[in-house]
Amino acid sequence: MDKMVIVGGKRLEGEVRISGAKNAALPIMASALLVDGWNTFHNIPDLLDITTIKKLLKSLGVTMEAEGETLRMNAGQITQCEASYDLVRTMRASILVLGPLVARMGEARVSLPGGCAIGARPVNLHIKALQEMGAEVTLKDGYVEAKAARLKGAEIYFDLSTVTGTENIMMAATLAKGTTVLKNAAREPEIVNLAEVLIGMGARIQGAGSDVIVIEGVERLHPVEAAVIPDRIEAGTFLIAAGITGGDIRIRDCNPAHLDALLARLKDTGISVKATADSMRVKGGRALRSVDVKTLPYPGFPTDLQAQIMALMTVANGLSVITETVFENRFMHVSEMVRMGADIVIEGKSAIVRGVPKLHGAPVMATDLRASASLILAALGAEGTTTLSRVYHIDRGYQKIEEKFSALGADIRRISG
Ligand code: EPZ
Repeated sequence: MDKMVIVGGKRLEGEVRISGAKNAALPIMASALLVDGWNTFHNIPDLLDITTIKKLLKSLGVTMEAEGETLRMNAGQITQCEASYDLVRTMRASILVLGPLVARMGEARVSLPGGCAIGARPVNLHIKALQEMGAEVTLKDGYVEAKAARLKGAEIYFDLSTVTGTENIMMAATLAKGTTVLKNAAREPEIVNLAEVLIGMGARIQGAGSDVIVIEGVERLHPVEAAVIPDRIEAGTFLIAAGITGGDIRIRDCNPAHLDALLARLKDTGISVKATADSMRVKGGRALRSVDVKTLPYPGFPTDLQAQIMALMTVANGLSVITETVFENRFMHVSEMVRMGADIVIEGKSAIVRGVPKLHGAPVMATDLRASASLILAALGAEGTTTLSRVYHIDRGYQKIEEKFSALGADIRRISG
């Protein structure tokens, strides 16, 4: 398994381009299942998770042609409606084929994703909503089996704000008979991006981005050409990288409007960020002030940036209380940072971070995608050498991360084996 070796202490300087958002590309690629014909999607990132969903969609009969970051997809001939366990267990977002398959084909058999490092992550809300739309859903041998001659519009209230739940049901509702109202819908920018794509296909959707989304079902959808939005989590990771190394970075092809919560916290720490519509200039260097952070559904502080801002707080002046409200077990990076000399104590849903002058390089292990990014950040700011193992986690969600950091002056290299 690959490892990453990072020698810390270098100030990062220069320019980095942000790739397309993984969490927008995944549902948008799944939406191709709704259409008979060639869709064209631009700004698709080159990531392990994208490779996985391509494999899954091909297994369902979708044909694809890729050219750089543009992907053409045609689901004219869906050959089977089963998403197998060996594919789904490597990526929970595979559940996103459930809604489109039931809507287009009247049936789907999708393996239950199973838990993952950060939490149990059930899909009960996806299932309940499909049942409310008239699907007959059974759980058998670890699979969700759903059948519906044609889904019916329904008024659905999500007990919890669920990103892929909202996406799954919004896609399913586009071909249902009648109108579906999603209440307490998630509001992430990736949902707005998906809605724009579906509307481009001829769907009738209003309210995406708010907590009430109304979808009026239509008979069929047609192909679309669309682009995936920039990855706000990748952009946020580079903002924090500048802060932790005292660097000066220009971030291109991003959307600062998707990062209000992080930008507000970084301002409080003393990191200066100047933003235009599609770029940011971030400068670290001054002493970092500790801030408290509480993760919440969008537009609150994103749980996917919790580990990264914790890395920053480990070397800030003072005490920072970081509370994780979205997932029940998203502090695995804490023990790894403590190995690097961080002073962090977990109290229930909160991590109490007491800033120290410097972290020290050490051998550490990645446990999940965002934890691995946070350990790279910690290593970039640390004194000495860090070896990060289980690097495949980071390849799931960050395109060419070591090349992007090296281009900014980081001493980081991947070693195989
Ligand atoms: C999406 O996961 C993202 N993944 C996650 O990003 C992100 O952390 C998460 O949203 C929260 O923002 C993709 O978009 C592919 P949820 P998702 O459903 O949709 C509970 C990354 O690093 N819940 O919004 O699976 C759930 O357990 C990944 O890129 C239920 O109880 O998250 C969690 O506690 C990690 N029942 C909370 O809701 C359900 O049916 C929010 O989960 C669904 C969710």
